Amino acid sequence: MTEQNFLSKPYSYTLEKGQVSWQSPSNIALVKYWGKHGEQLPKNTSISFTLSNCHTQTTLFYEPKTKAGFDFEIYLDGKLEEGFEPKILKFFQRIENYLLFLKEYSFKIETFNSFPHSSGIASSASGMSALALCLMEMERKFNPEISKEYFHQKASFLARLGSGSACRSIEGPLVVWGEHSKVIGSTNLFGITYPLEIHKNFKKYQDTILLVDQGEKQVSSTVGHDLMHNHPFAEERFAQANTNLEKLIPILKSGNLDGFIEIVESEALSLHAMMMTSMPYFILMKPNTLEIINRIWEYRKKTGSKVCFTLDAGANVHVLYPELEKKQVYDFIKKELVAYCQNSKYICDLVGKGAKKVYI
Ligand code: PMV
Repeated sequence: MTEQNFLSKPYSYTLEKGQVSWQSPSNIALVKYWGKHGEQLPKNTSISFTLSNCHTQTTLFYEPKTKAGFDFEIYLDGKLEEGFEPKILKFFQRIENYLLFLKEYSFKIETFNSFPHSSGIASSASGMSALALCLMEMERKFNPEISKEYFHQKASFLARLGSGSACRSIEGPLVVWGEHSKVIGSTNLFGITYPLEIHKNFKKYQDTILLVDQGEKQVSSTVGHDLMHNHPFAEERFAQANTNLEKLIPILKSGNLDGFIEIVESEALSLHAMMMTSMPYFILMKPNTLEIINRIWEYRKKTGSKVCFTLDAGANVHVLYPELEKKQVYDFIKKELVAYCQNSKYICDLVGKGAKKVYI
C-alpha cells in the first residue's frame, strides 16, 4: 500500500445538501508514538487500547457551493469555536488530494465530547478520527462500491494526517500503527487492528483516568514530537519502542500480566524521560502524578494486584487493571487516589471496539 491507493477518483455525480454523523473513541497507547517525520509518519511502531466511554460525536453538514477555496465552521458543544479553524484548515489542506469534493462544499462541523473539554484529555484522537469518518461517509456516498476494509483504512489514513495517534481510534480493541516486521499488515500509513492472539485477561481491560491537571498543556505534542529531531537518545528510544512491541506479542497471547505491567509502565516513563532530556527540556508530570504512581506501586506490593499505570503527554494518570480486579481496584482508587485528582475528578473507561456510525 502507498499513498497513491488513497487518491480520490473523479466522481460521476453530485451530492445535494445533507449530513453524516460518527462517534469515535479516544485511545491510550501501551507502546508510545513520540517522534515523527515526513507527513505525520511515525518514527516507531505504537500500539494502543481503544477506549469506550471517552469519545467524540461529530455531525458534518454539507452543502454544495460555487465559491473557490475551503469553507467551514466548527461548533463544540453548540458554541462556535473559531480557535479550532487553523488546525482544521491545515487538515483540509493536507487531505485535499485524497478527497476531491472538499472544495466543492460548505461545511458545518458540530462536535460533542463525552468528557469535559477542560479535562486535560486529548480530544484530538477522538475528534480527528470522528471528522475523518464523517468525510469518508461522504466519500462513500460518491463511491458506494468501496469496501468496508478500504473505508476503515482510508478513514485511519486521513485521521493520521489530522493527528498521528488519531489513526488508532477507528477500530479496536488493540490497534497497531507503524511498520513492524512481527506484525503482518502493519504500516506507517494507517492503524490496523492487532492481528495476533489476545488472551482473555485483556478483554474489557479497565482504564480509570485520574484527572490530575485539567489545564492546557504547557507544551503541545507537536512541539514535543519536533524535539525528537536531534534528541541525543532518539535512535535508542525508537529501537526500544519497536523491541517493546515485539516483547508484547507473547505477553498478549499468554495473558502474562506481570510482563504487561513491566512494558507498559516502562513505556510511560520512557516517554516522559524523552521530554525531560530534550532541549529545551520540560516536565509534564505534576507532584500528584508521582504520588499516584508511588501509591500504585505500594498497593501492588501489598496486595499482589495487577494494577498498573500509563501516561500520555500530560499529568493525568491512566490506571489500567484487569476486569477481574474491577471492584478491589476501584475501591483502592476511591480510597487512596482520588485525593490526588484536581477537584476529585476521574473518568471510568474500558477497552472498546472502535468508532460507530450514528444514524440520525
Ligand atoms: O497524536 P499526537 O501528535 O497528539 O501524539 C500523541 C502522542 C502520545 O499520546 C504521547 C503517545 C501516543 O502514542 O498516543
